[in-house]
Amino acid sequence: MSDTSHSQEVDPETGEKLRDHEFDGIREYDNPMPAWWKRSFWATFWFSVLYIGYFHARSGRDVIDEYDADMQIFYEKQTAELLALGEVDEAMLATFLKNKGAMAEAKDTWSKTCVTCHRADGGGDIGPNLTDSHWLGKNSLMDIYVTIRDGRNKMPPWGKKLRPDVVMKMAAYVGALRETHVAGGKAPEGKPLPPAPLPDTRAGAAKDTKAAGDAPAAPESDKK
Ligand code: HEC
Repeated sequence: MSDTSHSQEVDPETGEKLRDHEFDGIREYDNPMPAWWKRSFWATFWFSVLYIGYFHARSGRDVIDEYDADMQIFYEKQTAELLALGEVDEAMLATFLKNKGAMAEAKDTWSKTCVTCHRADGGGDIGPNLTDSHWLGKNSLMDIYVTIRDGRNKMPPWGKKLRPDVVMKMAAYVGALRETHVAGGKAPEGKPLPPAPLPDTRAGAAKDTKAAGDAPAAPESDKK
């Protein structure tokens, strides 16, 4: 800033140091920014350079990367849990019927995802009544599971949007709606079927399902 080697001009009235230029008779005081201010300015400046270099230009992990890494760990854990459950079959799906946590999660998903077409109580609206004895497909838990997973006609394929274990839980949830014959339900569609028998549940499967529902963040909303 100012050269201190020669004695600086001073405003005779205020005693303030003056800078050595003049414009239309106007002089400027020589009041540099305080040192602490300049130091913090340069500190933030260099911080931003490092920040951009690390997080944007190079391979540094930003928040999204951290999230993806967490989700990766979660999905691996979930996959291991699903593999531990084994192949999806009637007995395995029936196990969810006895798992309170799984059914509560299914109820939550039902109220967010299925009510628009099947009504809160399953009585049907755009989609068929799921509480009567008539079925467009079949009424075993496995058939219901496949319909929910792959969709059919105007029924969307939920296997593309919901986590695999949630699709299984939804099959159990619909399984519990069967034959409840709610009041004011939609007229029967499809063919009448005898109630599907409940198989023996598979021991061990129920307890394994707990952790699969504990996502770090809601991956269900991760819709494509
Ligand atoms: C966009 C509307 C819509 C939504 C949302 C929807 N469904 Fe459906 N669903 C339908 C329609 C329409 C059918 C009839 C499909 C057919 O023609 O075979 C159906 C059929 C079904 C069936 C088979 C019924 C039978 O008689 O065979 C099941 C089970 C079912 N839905 C469960 C679900 C579940 C569980 C959800 C939520 C995850 C869901 N649906 C969300 C429209 C919907």
